[in-house]
Amino acid sequence: MKISPQTYARRRRRLLQALPPGSVALVAGATLATRNRDAEYPFRQHSDFYYLTGFNEPDALLLLKPGRSEGEVVMFCPPRDPALEIWTGYRAGPEGCVERFGADQAFTLDEIDEQVPLLLDGARSIYYPLGCDEQLDARVRGWLNAVRDRARQGAEAPEELVLLDNLLHEMRLFKDDEELAVMRRAAEISAQAHCEAMRLARPGIHEYELEGRIISHCTAAGARFQAYSPIVGGGANACILHYIDNDAPIADGDLVLIDAGCELDCYASDITRTFPVNGRFSAEQRALYELVLKTNEACIELIRPGLPWNAVHDLSVKMLTQGLVELGLLEGEVEALIESGAYREFYMHRIGHWLGMDVHDVGNYKLNGEWRPLEPGMVMTIEPGLYISPHNDRVEPRWRGIGIRIEDDVLVTRDGAEVLTAGVPKSVDAIEALMAGN
Ligand code: GLY
Ligand code: MN
Ligand code: MN
Repeated sequence: MKISPQTYARRRRRLLQALPPGSVALVAGATLATRNRDAEYPFRQHSDFYYLTGFNEPDALLLLKPGRSEGEVVMFCPPRDPALEIWTGYRAGPEGCVERFGADQAFTLDEIDEQVPLLLDGARSIYYPLGCDEQLDARVRGWLNAVRDRARQGAEAPEELVLLDNLLHEMRLFKDDEELAVMRRAAEISAQAHCEAMRLARPGIHEYELEGRIISHCTAAGARFQAYSPIVGGGANACILHYIDNDAPIADGDLVLIDAGCELDCYASDITRTFPVNGRFSAEQRALYELVLKTNEACIELIRPGLPWNAVHDLSVKMLTQGLVELGLLEGEVEALIESGAYREFYMHRIGHWLGMDVHDVGNYKLNGEWRPLEPGMVMTIEPGLYISPHNDRVEPRWRGIGIRIEDDVLVTRDGAEVLTAGVPKSVDAIEALMAGN
């Protein structure tokens, strides 16, 4: 499942229309990163660049220049080189960029330092994400200086640098039908993968065995990459928020927290489920789990257009704090415990984040100093959690070392919300039934 060339073209047109006359936008692709010696990390295109091109080769650059008569969309790409392509695989080359990726004009990378200064000559402003990539910053400086150096020959250097981030990231924040189809599929594959891990779980299993099952399911379904490193934490490891060692055996009676989601055509899914490795919740696990679940469901229920982003977080804080007081884990007045931040000992992260091409996707959370209202087409996670440190001697020993998070991916619709990750159960009964093979 892939985004169509027409959609990439539409996005470029929208950005070109939003750019003022006399401007040039620069959007750089990603570079291959070395893992060790001759081995490289799998290539992942930069999301901004991929959003506008669908082009998946390293080191490329997209230049947009509204109103340019020779073409508004210019691409720079690796050259075609049959000898090199024996090693690296097929390259589109400039011709491919024009024919298949919608460029009006394309050059090879070795022409970049000559061509970009010519394209900047006479432009009033450069739109680009200053400060995100030192190498790119240095190159832009070099291109600017190349224009300045030719001032006596009549070259005119731009006078303004504008950060491209807001313009582009507002576009990325709102997902269209095609993007939603890809995101629904990514979420569905990940949901099935979580079900598979629940089915495989048994006391003594290693965290990496569950990780392996998740990854193999996604890969076999066509999603070769995870959107982030899977977190598989058994017992107290679930209390380490970004635990990725995933190398411990999981003891009978422990919960396991799995936070994993695949990526499909550069769109992320992000799911967390927590379940008992032996298939049955203990009383303490169940009590905390029901509280997190109730919070997850109430937050999803609240979502609708017009609701300020922070209202969802505030509800989660209120419900979890209230529940912790009822269970005796916190003492005092709920309002005071919220005011003082006492709940943060157990709930130290926020309710969620935007989701899209990046797992923590782009887009502002505030506009003009106010939490922004939710709007149809936004996708966000809802992921309340409670983590009782194994070292917390202020609570009864029976609670210690329990970590629970329940995370869903949610689309804001015209009249509410659509849960993209409904394919993996989250109620106690449904999890126990699935794990019992019913
Ligand atoms: N997996 C990272 C997160 O849930 O935000
Ligand atoms: Mn997650
Ligand atoms: Mn998340």
